[in-house]
Amino acid sequence: MKTAIIGLGNMGRGLARRLAGRTDLLLAARNEADAAGLAATLAVEWLAIPEALAAADIIVLGLPYSAALGFVSDAKIDGKILVDISNPLKDDFSGLTIGHDTSAGEEIQKQADGAEVVKAFNTIFAELFDAPREATANVPVFVAGNTAKAVEAVEQLVVTAGFAVENAGALDAARLLEPVGMLNIRLGYGLGRGTAIAPAWLKIAA
Ligand SMILES: NC(=O)c1ccc[n+]([C@@H]2O[C@H](COP(=O)([O-])OP(=O)(O)OC[C@H]3O[C@@H](n4cnc5c(N)ncnc54)[C@H](OP(=O)(O)O)[C@@H]3O)[C@@H](O)[C@H]2O)c1
Repeated sequence: MKTAIIGLGNMGRGLARRLAGRTDLLLAARNEADAAGLAATLAVEWLAIPEALAAADIIVLGLPYSAALGFVSDAKIDGKILVDISNPLKDDFSGLTIGHDTSAGEEIQKQADGAEVVKAFNTIFAELFDAPREATANVPVFVAGNTAKAVEAVEQLVVTAGFAVENAGALDAARLLEPVGMLNIRLGYGLGRGTAIAPAWLKIAA
């Protein structure tokens, strides 16, 4: 399986550093010099965005939600697995722009009906990608999607990136996961806990 990361901001770059040398990876960004520079540093392939979309089996959308929505509606992505990592944040980071009866993941899926959207990584601060792998091996990445094949492929990517999988069921779980991402931001930034935190579900011994 070839994975393309489209958009090389904080999340895209961090994930690229975790995956480089461990999976068949290629990078793409609208600023091609950025993509070429990071690809050279990490010794991985880069391509222009249309070629990257064509070559990849899994496409990680390292984009803000509004950009991801527009991006998928124009892109040739039929048959691809799309990884939506977004939180649909208000401009001032005070809350989410959508929720309860839909989610960023589901809205992206509506615009990409020939592709399979899988929600993942939205509760992981970008800074965690720079932590030692052993520090994140038990940190859950919540994964939600509608088909087993796509979910399993993204779960494998999560493990390759050095995290643990917490399967949250079908894609409508994105309605629940995006508020968890927002809570993480509130704790991390608003309430001063910092970005070396992540939500996890505890199993209490009976
Ligand atoms: N940062 C976090 O800790 C964190 C945690 C969980 C989830 N997320 C989610 O992850 C996603 C990325 O966040 P980030 O922090 O990495 O953001 P970021 O640092 O601002 O990077 C976003 C990237 O998207 C690119 N981009 C924007 N519009 C585009 C378009 N129309 N076409 C192609 N590329 C476009 C930008 O390219 P240019 O450089 O050319 O502008 C930039 O490289 C967001 O949806 C966010 O909600 C972030």
